[in-house]
Amino acid sequence: MNKTYKVTFSDRYTFVQNGARRVPLIHRNKIMARVIVINSGKGGVGKTTTAINLGTSLNRLGKEVIIIDANLNTPNVGLQLGAPIVPVTLNHVLKGKADIEDAIYEHHSGTKIIPSSLSIKELTKFNTKKIPEIIESLRDSCDYVIIDSAAGFGEEVIAVLGVADEVVIVTNPEMPTVTDALKAVKVAREMGKEVNGVIVTRHVNAKYEMPLSSIRSMLETQIIGVIPEDKAVKEALNMRDAVVHTHPRSRVSRKYLEIARKVNGDEVEEVRSFLGRIFGR
Ligand SMILES: Nc1ncnc2c1ncn2[C@@H]1O[C@H](COP(=O)(O)OP(=O)(O)OP(=O)(O)O)[C@@H](O)[C@H]1O
Ligand SMILES: [Mg+2]
Repeated sequence: MNKTYKVTFSDRYTFVQNGARRVPLIHRNKIMARVIVINSGKGGVGKTTTAINLGTSLNRLGKEVIIIDANLNTPNVGLQLGAPIVPVTLNHVLKGKADIEDAIYEHHSGTKIIPSSLSIKELTKFNTKKIPEIIESLRDSCDYVIIDSAAGFGEEVIAVLGVADEVVIVTNPEMPTVTDALKAVKVAREMGKEVNGVIVTRHVNAKYEMPLSSIRSMLETQIIGVIPEDKAVKEALNMRDAVVHTHPRSRVSRKYLEIARKVNGDEVEEVRSFLGRIFGR
């Protein structure tokens, strides 16, 4: 393909300076990636944090992972992993200006990402119909494709749901967010997709929160993890890295690793709080 962009030294430098480098794709025989879409319904619940930390945790388990930022209007994956400006983004690929292989970057931790563009100039004319073909082309190059989707049920969300093998719904323990999560569960199921489970994030175990049992019965879906509210997440954001790297011993990181093990089908011993161990919570 004729590339209309040019990767200059300074482009690379911007990226290298931020701790990531461009990597070639290695196509393998037989091994086919599982494509997992992280969705919510309501915005701002912790999808990007979850996509990054679930992806990074699977990577720590020795799996080859590519995290795609399919939140094309307000992308955050590159931003959160210290790669706000890269020469080629998913937007370029969707516009037919570049190949997907040119939009894959490796964070210094080893996690691979496909960022979307922060530029408002890139918001127009991308063809979401290309999304399935792009994602399918990655299947023989990794074990997991983790897709961070936008909130709501816009065109790009439906496009990524269409190619999902599994959907993970993220919610916070409050009624309006869980109500929107229910919509997300229904949309996924109506599309014939398996809802792998729900991750409840920013949990503080307060009386005013919606109980986990109510969330489970309202969504009619298993809860595969409960992530506590933790300032380590903000500290990691400030360090432009996944919390599972910056604070590997934090409870939030141990929880993300536990979810990754469950997703990967490994035996899991639940991480429980001190009080949880005493009172069986
Ligand atoms: N466990 C947590 N503890 C504390 N803060 C958290 C936690 N999880 C996420 N956050 C914070 O909540 C905010 C929203 O998280 P995030 O960007 O992951 O949500 P999102 O669902 O991807 O949002 P959007 O719908 O806008 O894409 C961020 O500031 C993030 O740092
Ligand atoms: Mg997000």
